[in-house]
Amino acid sequence: MKTLNRQFINGRVHKSHIHDIQTETGAASGEQVAEGVLGDATDANLAVEAAREDLQKLAAAVHLCGDRGRSVGEMSLFGRELEKKQLAELIDGVRQRGGALIVRGEAGIGKSALLAEVRALSVTPGMRVLITTGAEPEEHLPYAGLHQLLHPIRGGIDALPSPQRDALRAALGLADEAVPDVYLVGLATLNLLAEVATDSPLVLIAEDAHWLDRSSVDVLAFVARRLPSEPIALIATVRDGEMSRLDDAGLPSMRVERLPEDAAAELLDAVAPGLAPTVRSRVLSDAAGNPLALTELPGTLSSLAQTTPRCRPSCR
Ligand SMILES: Nc1ncnc2c1ncn2[C@@H]1O[C@H](COP(=O)(O)OP(=O)(O)OP(=O)(O)O)[C@@H](O)[C@H]1O
Ligand SMILES: [Mg+2]
Repeated sequence: MKTLNRQFINGRVHKSHIHDIQTETGAASGEQVAEGVLGDATDANLAVEAAREDLQKLAAAVHLCGDRGRSVGEMSLFGRELEKKQLAELIDGVRQRGGALIVRGEAGIGKSALLAEVRALSVTPGMRVLITTGAEPEEHLPYAGLHQLLHPIRGGIDALPSPQRDALRAALGLADEAVPDVYLVGLATLNLLAEVATDSPLVLIAEDAHWLDRSSVDVLAFVARRLPSEPIALIATVRDGEMSRLDDAGLPSMRVERLPEDAAAELLDAVAPGLAPTVRSRVLSDAAGNPLALTELPGTLSSLAQTTPRCRPSCR
C-alpha cells in the first residue's frame, strides 16, 4: 500500500497506470488497487469493501452525476500568494534590474503552473517571453535547449561580432564549424539577448531545466550570473530529486511546498465538488497537499469505480 501511496503522491498514478499498478503490486482487481490508493485499513477484505463503497459514492459524485467540477485550466492557483508575489516582483522590476530564479519542488507541486502565471504577468505591452523546455530524449543533444530558446530571435545573430556569431551559429547548427567554445557561445547568447532586450524587456523561461542538455545549461548559467545589469529575467524549474548544473551557479531559488490544508481543500472542492465526506478526507490525506494528486485522484478513483463490476448497477 505504501508503494501505491508514494507513487500517487509523486504524481505518477494516472488512469492509464492502473494496469501497471496491478502488475507491480500483484493486485488482482481494481478494488485492490483502490484499496492501496485510498487508504490505511488493516483488514484487506474490509478495505476492499470500504474502497468499493467509496468508489460508488465517488463515481456518483464526480463522474456519473454530471457535476465534474472545474477543470484545472479554468481556475487560478490556490494557496500560492507568496510565490506569485515573489515572481511578480521579479517581473515588475525587470526594467530596473534583471535577475534569475530557480523554482524547485517535487513532481506535481505546481512549478509549471506558477510559470504559467509568470507568462500571464509578462503579457504587459512590450515584454517578450522566450521559452525552452528540457526533455529527457534531448538531454544529450548539445545546445538543443539553447536552440529552442533563441530560435525566435535568431535573426539577430548576424549582427554579433564575428567570433561570437560563428560560435553561436555553430552551436545552433546554422554553420559547419567545429564544436564551438562554450565561453564564446555564452557571450554571444548574452549579447544577443541584451540587444533584443533594448527594445523590450525579456523573460526567459527554462522549464524542467534538469532535462536540458549540459551545454545549454552552462550557457544559461553564464547568462544568469550577468543578468542584474540587463532588463532580463530568467526563471527555471527543477524537480526535486533531479540534478541540474544550474545548482552550481549560485542563483537565488524559491521552494514550492505542499499546499496548506485549507488551500488543498479549496482545490479539491473546486475540481471534485460534492464528494462524500469520508472520500474527501481520504483524498486530502493521501494527496498530502500535492496539487497534481488532488486533481488526479478523483478521476482515477472514478475510473476505478467504473471498472469495478459491483459498482456499476448502483452508479447508473
Ligand atoms: N496552487 C494550485 N492551485 C490549483 N491547481 C494547481 C496548483 N498547483 C498546481 N496545480 C495543478 O496541478 C497540476 C500539477 O501542477 P504542475 O504541472 O505545475 O506541477 P509541476 O511541479 O510542474 O510538476 P512536474 O515536476 O511534473 O513538472 C496541474 O494540473 C496544475 O494546473
Ligand atoms: Mg512542470
